[in-house]
Amino acid sequence: HDQILFTYLHLAPDLPQTEELISSGAICIAYETVTDDRGGLPLLAPMSEVAGRMSIQAGAMALEKSMGGLGMLLGGVPGVEPAKVVIIGGGMVGTNAAQMAVGMGADVVVLDRSIDALRRLNVQFGSKVKAIYSTADAIEKHVLQADLVIGGVLIPGAAAPKLVTREHVKKMKPGAAIVDVAIDQGGCVETSHATTHQDPTYIVDDVVHYCVANMPGAVARTSTFALNNATLPYILKLARLGYRDALLSDKHLQNGLNVMHGKITCKEVAVAHNMPYTAANELLQ
Ligand SMILES: NC(=O)c1ccc[n+]([C@@H]2O[C@H](COP(=O)([O-])OP(=O)(O)OC[C@H]3O[C@@H](n4cnc5c(N)ncnc54)[C@H](O)[C@@H]3O)[C@@H](O)[C@H]2O)c1
Repeated sequence: HDQILFTYLHLAPDLPQTEELISSGAICIAYETVTDDRGGLPLLAPMSEVAGRMSIQAGAMALEKSMGGLGMLLGGVPGVEPAKVVIIGGGMVGTNAAQMAVGMGADVVVLDRSIDALRRLNVQFGSKVKAIYSTADAIEKHVLQADLVIGGVLIPGAAAPKLVTREHVKKMKPGAAIVDVAIDQGGCVETSHATTHQDPTYIVDDVVHYCVANMPGAVARTSTFALNNATLPYILKLARLGYRDALLSDKHLQNGLNVMHGKITCKEVAVAHNMPYTAANELLQ
């Protein structure tokens, strides 16, 4: 009772943990629902940066012959074409993946259905990245030409849409690779299922799939520092002001409050478990 728990909670899909946190009487603040002024999720972003960057190194490995891949170097060499990398979703994961893929000399296409995201990619990468509006046709066209597909879409609060279908996978190049980063939200490829770092890849219709649900865990050192850089200001605020004043003085931190003194204060979690919801402000006043 009255302990402060400040970490990733992901309570919506986890009834036992939700029930135990309710009965504990603790103040439970979830990293993943803390917001910022730009509509972002500042404590989720560092992990997407890590996973986006890692997706290209994981994809490069998956394209190696011994992994079942095409036996292709992402950047090619003088006289030999580079790999075509198709990134679906141009948010935090997609932008970081594009940065690495461009750096390695690949031929890079990013598909997004947010015009703002496409504009931002265009400003950031110029002609080094083809920023394409995402439609079913565009996805099919580019995925069938791809050597490496990166899945980085997110529809907040919802399961990832299956944008790459089983039929697409059947028609992809034999030895092509898919890194479905969105697997933690169910994945955006119909043939994806979650894997672990111990056994990260499997093959469907000659296409190598890498679907590790916790990619940043493989680079725990980088991930920990990145995360702590983002969380430290909030931790200092909680320590200096105490949880009540810290939460009352910062609406974005308050959005992180999921459970307090036995009550659910996050609407999505309450809806997911069909339990009563109490506004955080009501409990804190
Ligand atoms: N596997 C892991 O270890 C790991 C780590 C970090 C993040 N993730 C996951 O990666 C995914 C992406 O995270 P993010 O931080 O980049 O999210 P984000 O919100 O920054 O970006 C998602 C992008 O997807 C785009 N999008 C939505 N529908 C689309 C469609 N039909 N076609 C093309 N683009 C579409 C959005 O416009 C947005 O730009 C999330 O599911 C996140 O949970 C996984």
